[in-house]
Amino acid sequence: MQRYRITLLPGDGIGPEIMAIAVEILEAIAAPFDLSFDFTTALMGGAAIDATGEPLPEVTLATCRNSDAVLLAAIGGPKWDTQPRHLRPETGLLGLRSGLELFANLRPAKILPQLLDASSLKPEVVSGVDIMVVRELTGGIYFGQPRGIFSSEAGEQRGVNTMVYSETEIDRIGRVAFEAARKRRQKLCSVDKANVLEVSQLWRDRITLLAQDYPDVELSHMYVDNAAMQLVRAPKQFDTIVTGNLLGDILSDAAAMLTGSIGMLPSASLGATGPGVFEPVHGSAPDIAGQDKANPLAMVLSAAMMLRYALGQSAAADQIEQAVLQVLEQGDRTPDIMSAGMHPLGCRGMGNALLKALSV
Ligand code: IPM
Ligand code: MG
Repeated sequence: MQRYRITLLPGDGIGPEIMAIAVEILEAIAAPFDLSFDFTTALMGGAAIDATGEPLPEVTLATCRNSDAVLLAAIGGPKWDTQPRHLRPETGLLGLRSGLELFANLRPAKILPQLLDASSLKPEVVSGVDIMVVRELTGGIYFGQPRGIFSSEAGEQRGVNTMVYSETEIDRIGRVAFEAARKRRQKLCSVDKANVLEVSQLWRDRITLLAQDYPDVELSHMYVDNAAMQLVRAPKQFDTIVTGNLLGDILSDAAAMLTGSIGMLPSASLGATGPGVFEPVHGSAPDIAGQDKANPLAMVLSAAMMLRYALGQSAAADQIEQAVLQVLEQGDRTPDIMSAGMHPLGCRGMGNALLKALSV
């Protein structure tokens, strides 16, 4: 039997509800695949601020480091939005990413035929969309120095952030992206703002150099404004996209929405070594927290991604993904993906439907 230590970070808002479903699903597939999970739940985000006064307690980071993989649900909410930056849930998430050196964020956006109706775009535009956004996660303007709000001698305030990438940072995310593209349809589009920004010029030069090592992958470059337009105009032209932290944050939300609901999409954050973090792309949805309305599927699919990428258990991952397809095929829908004639379920109900689909 294979034993795994998994750290659970349920976080805030709908986080605990969807995490509970993911844990049940993992427990359900453990025995048939001869796996055993030791789950440790730790505090992070607003929940950690309330309990300990900080968004990422040292013990949480230590627990994560000491595990085979980390499952994170969602963090944040209006309750903490007015706090100073070091006391905000998002600061805990950024601390986790940098603390575990999770420089590569993989965000797949694949449209499921069962959910074509749920997209806000025409079915013929989105049908067949299958995009992998590879977002750099521990550099760029999110972490660059100097940063802050400074006062001039005249007393005027200036807000400053710095977008900076070193060759090393660009090369390592570039390699992850080329490798990912290689396993997909061998097409990589690097997105930047090289017509304006020096940091993007270096990015483009390094990615172009790297391409020599991946002759089987077709590389293209696109400015971010055009990429945003192309994503909603003709998304099928994309296979793998690689981009920096801020541009990737924005484009991955747009790519996610092509599929109908951001409530469907998982993600993986990986470093060179050590445990990865697997989490839904969506946020903590405080407006529906505790009402049994959340869609647990992105969380469940994140658990499947963890099985596949971190634990090498792709057969178990396949089985979970199959169960998700099956419940959608049956017409089971949470409110975010509801359409006429379908069968409305809450978070719990969707969890039960998945458990049933797994056992047949
Ligand atoms: C994401 C989120 C985070 C980010 C926030 C919550 C800090 O939007 O994971 O995309 O900007 O990276
Ligand atoms: Mg985001």
